[in-house]
Amino acid sequence: MFVGKITNAMNVASNKNNFFSLQIMKWQVNSNKRIMPWTEEKDTYKIWISEIVLQQTRVEQGIGYYIKIVKRFPTLQVLAEASEESLFKVWEGLGYYSRARNLLKTARHVYFQLQGKFPDSYEGLLLLKGIGPYTAAAISSFAYNLPHAVVDGNVFRVLSRFFGESLPIDSTNGKKYFTVLANQLIDKKNPAVYNQAIMDFGATVCKPKIPCCQECFLQKKCYAFAYGLINKLPVKEKFLIKKKRYFTYFIFSVKQTIMIVKRTNKDIWEGLYEFYLYESAKPQKWKTSELNEWLKQQMGIKNYSLEAISKTYKQELTHQTLEGVFVKISLHELPHSLKRFSAVTPAGLRSIAFPKLINQYLDNEFWLTTE
Ligand code: ADE
Ligand code: SF4
Repeated sequence: MFVGKITNAMNVASNKNNFFSLQIMKWQVNSNKRIMPWTEEKDTYKIWISEIVLQQTRVEQGIGYYIKIVKRFPTLQVLAEASEESLFKVWEGLGYYSRARNLLKTARHVYFQLQGKFPDSYEGLLLLKGIGPYTAAAISSFAYNLPHAVVDGNVFRVLSRFFGESLPIDSTNGKKYFTVLANQLIDKKNPAVYNQAIMDFGATVCKPKIPCCQECFLQKKCYAFAYGLINKLPVKEKFLIKKKRYFTYFIFSVKQTIMIVKRTNKDIWEGLYEFYLYESAKPQKWKTSELNEWLKQQMGIKNYSLEAISKTYKQELTHQTLEGVFVKISLHELPHSLKRFSAVTPAGLRSIAFPKLINQYLDNEFWLTTE
């Protein structure tokens, strides 16, 4: 059982819980117009086929495949006795062929080892190849009316918006929280209706990008709608944790030319040009003594003159924040460590493709002191 903070939070919300469950059930029974070939299907075999087909496939694409598969393999026995090639033939174009392989393995296992009877519990279904928690919940509710709530990104999105819960849906805590909540919300008497309702509601009303809030029967109690947070919920952790990177660019000039190099590694800015890059995990403040030491030890440079150290420039990327400092240094001769670099005149720099971070610096400081 779940204890602590989450249980308390849920008790407070129980009115809202009841509203949610009741409204979504009403919608399913009275208004959901999404008719699919497996709607109200009671044959476990066919329910299972539909759920496997829909694992990585949208309903619109899945329908045709489902129809083809149950036509070609109308019973568990026919599928269990079929060859892999014959299944692959109807599976063609659906992708993720491991699904088809597991489908056949499970068909044979159930037919030959389990006397043709699918396990009739959630836990038993979970033991079959190709069946995870979502599929086991779907099958056990549709086929046996067992109260296991389906949970996936679509369900998390709906719950996060309606209840205004900002725990990241891709974090361990978030998944735990939304799974407990979903299993409290499921109608214990009609789990099949409830599960079909939330799947279809997430797919057709509370859609990821532009949800249909104007036609939504949950609108008057929906937190995200009330606070204008539709685009902020659900929260994803991978967008919260932005990696920070600290760059020092050394702008080495030798006889009035500047040394640049093309970025070739698998990282940001592949194919763009840059100056000599020193990257650190923490912000780097260059003291003269450190600079001396580093140039000598790392670059084999003893004689140089330090012309300028820039202010800090920032660039925000989707998953990382960059900070860059530019250190202008003039040299008398080209050190070995810069052999793979090209020499460009300051005017020539204007026609080179640089990342935004470097262009910001060039526009702000470099051109004012060069040429
Ligand atoms: N996605 C997975 N299973 C589904 C089902 N039974 N109906 C609609 N979408 C689904
Ligand atoms: Fe989703 Fe909008 Fe309905 Fe809220 S009002 S549950 S955001 S569709």
